[in-house]
Amino acid sequence: MTGLRTSWKRVTYTACAPVYNLLVWPLSRMRRASIQRLDLRPGEKVLIVGAGTGLDLDYLPSGTDITAIDLTPAMLARLRRRAERLGLAVNARILDGHTLDFPDNSFDAAILHLILAVIPDPVRCVREVARVLRPGGRAVIMDKFIPDKKRTPAIAQMLNPVLDFLGTNVSRKLGPILAGSGLEVVRDEPAGFFGYFRIVLTEKTRA
Ligand SMILES: C[S@@+](CC[C@H](N)C(=O)[O-])C[C@H]1O[C@@H](n2cnc3c(N)ncnc32)[C@H](O)[C@@H]1O
Repeated sequence: MTGLRTSWKRVTYTACAPVYNLLVWPLSRMRRASIQRLDLRPGEKVLIVGAGTGLDLDYLPSGTDITAIDLTPAMLARLRRRAERLGLAVNARILDGHTLDFPDNSFDAAILHLILAVIPDPVRCVREVARVLRPGGRAVIMDKFIPDKKRTPAIAQMLNPVLDFLGTNVSRKLGPILAGSGLEVVRDEPAGFFGYFRIVLTEKTRA
């Protein structure tokens, strides 16, 4: 079932690839603030999961070693063109965020922007991110979540099946997704739309 839902995501994001940048343009400031939370240093290896058209590339400090993965070739083709325009060397790969094929402990940092509300199994995705991060490595999440202690509003419950089908889930809670993943929340801040969007900095627990 997850496989079928994953394949469907590729269809929807192929369809929206040409207009994607316009749709998420209002989130630019949030995106920049989120990447700043990682405090990336030159030479650090950073993984962008569900990297899309590469809008995060604009905000990465020079000298970082960038790997970007995404399920949808049409999105990643745009990312490659963006990297070229920016003069950045990016290891861009078509890959499913449920099954990262990188060795354990291979990245210093990870960016998860607008992916945990999209990917069919976000629990599996964050566990994979924790696995490939080195102990003490950071992952920053920027996305929309219902606060853990709040009931999902009726409107979100009603619209969710349709919106999830079209591209993004609107009723996920971050606490249960991160529970037991090996990623611990270091900082959690509202980022817009009345706190519905959040920037959450996490760190992989040291063994
Ligand atoms: C809402 S877009 C976010 C793109 C980018 N992170 C951004 O901030 O603009 C969601 C992206 O996740 C990708 N995606 C969906 N399911 C995925 C999966 N299972 N593995 C990797 N990428 C996936 C889609 O192709 C799409 O590019």
